[in-house]
Amino acid sequence: MVGGGQGAYIGHIHRLAARLDGQWQLVAGAFDVDPERGRTFALSQGLDPARSYGTWQEMIAAEAARPDRVEAVAICTPNFTHYPIAKALIEAGFDVICEKPLTATLADAVALEQLARDSGRFVGVTYTYSGYPMVHEARVRVAAGEIGAVRTVQVEYPLEWMATAIEQQGNAQAVWRTDPVKNGRGGSIGDIGTHAYHLAGFVSGLTLDSLTADLATFVGGRALDDNAHVMLRYQGGARGLLWSSQVAIGNSNGVRLRVFGETGSVQWYQEQPNELILTPLEGRVQVIKRGAAGLSEDAQARTRTPPGHPEGYLEAFANLYAGFAEAIRARAEGREPDAIGRNLPTAWDGLKGVAFVEAVVDSAGATDQPWLRPVAV
Ligand code: NAI
Repeated sequence: MVGGGQGAYIGHIHRLAARLDGQWQLVAGAFDVDPERGRTFALSQGLDPARSYGTWQEMIAAEAARPDRVEAVAICTPNFTHYPIAKALIEAGFDVICEKPLTATLADAVALEQLARDSGRFVGVTYTYSGYPMVHEARVRVAAGEIGAVRTVQVEYPLEWMATAIEQQGNAQAVWRTDPVKNGRGGSIGDIGTHAYHLAGFVSGLTLDSLTADLATFVGGRALDDNAHVMLRYQGGARGLLWSSQVAIGNSNGVRLRVFGETGSVQWYQEQPNELILTPLEGRVQVIKRGAAGLSEDAQARTRTPPGHPEGYLEAFANLYAGFAEAIRARAEGREPDAIGRNLPTAWDGLKGVAFVEAVVDSAGATDQPWLRPVAV
């Protein structure tokens, strides 16, 4: 692992998720921007002192030379470091699990995706919400035509944690997220809008054609958007609306997706992740429970406990890790992956997310927004 050291947010979740199915073992790491702190943290995780590295450069050089070298490296650092770290890892022959957004700039994302393709290395991107079994169930049902041709997609990712200027009080996560160089050009839209964008495309099966965006920065002194509304136009004519917000008071992690088709709709809410709501025309609302009989192979492969014994965030994250392990193993064995190793977020999805952010920020900054009209009365 690179990053995810003492006090970091997501690294801990990666470690828990990777452990859940016994497919991964954490054996080496450069966990912190401060080499000494990183080494101390590695030791606290029980790692071999010889594999408790101060920097990722040191780790790559040393691991590449070991007969028992690590197989894959998870990158859990701020966005602007993803590209140089991932590039060096791929060039040294390692598979990569990278946090989203894939990179801080579109040029880096294009280069990284190309490198992943040319090298044949596996690059998984941790779009967390695509790890949930009921999100897979929704995808399968939409693809099977259960709601008919998709007309509209409503997706939102509201959070409240940046409703005040916490970056000015030194909040470690907010400090780099509000720095355009370290974060990239999109504030809320890059940080959480990328999750929403991926989720909407994943379930609806639609490909985005174009968009128009309205970005706002509500907290004074902040350099990047903390609220975004984006109108989406998908290939084939479907429409969508995406909202990401870091200032939506009352929302801890309110990811919500609703997809409306010609004959029905599906909805899923991450704070009730064990349920998928399917409503055919004329309102006979069905609550489909995770673990119920007759669900798709894709959902079953990502389900550990029977209905009524709730699963959640950690299990969804673990599904990504189990999927990445299966995809890597299948490649080594020259076979097709099992269900859990299919439909995974990879470098291509990461690149699409960064391209989306770029288009949103360009759209919002355009001075000739054709849709922006004053209202007369
Ligand atoms: P954080 O600021 O809490 O932690 C970053 C960690 O990386 C720290 O331990 C820091 O010391 C370390 N680090 C920074 N530069 C480093 C370097 N050059 N070498 C080694 N370590 C280095 O950040 P957070 O919130 O954990 O975010 C990290 C990444 O994860 C971001 O890309 C973020 O967008 C993504 N993320 C993804 C989530 C998801 O749901 N998939 C949720 C939260 C974050």
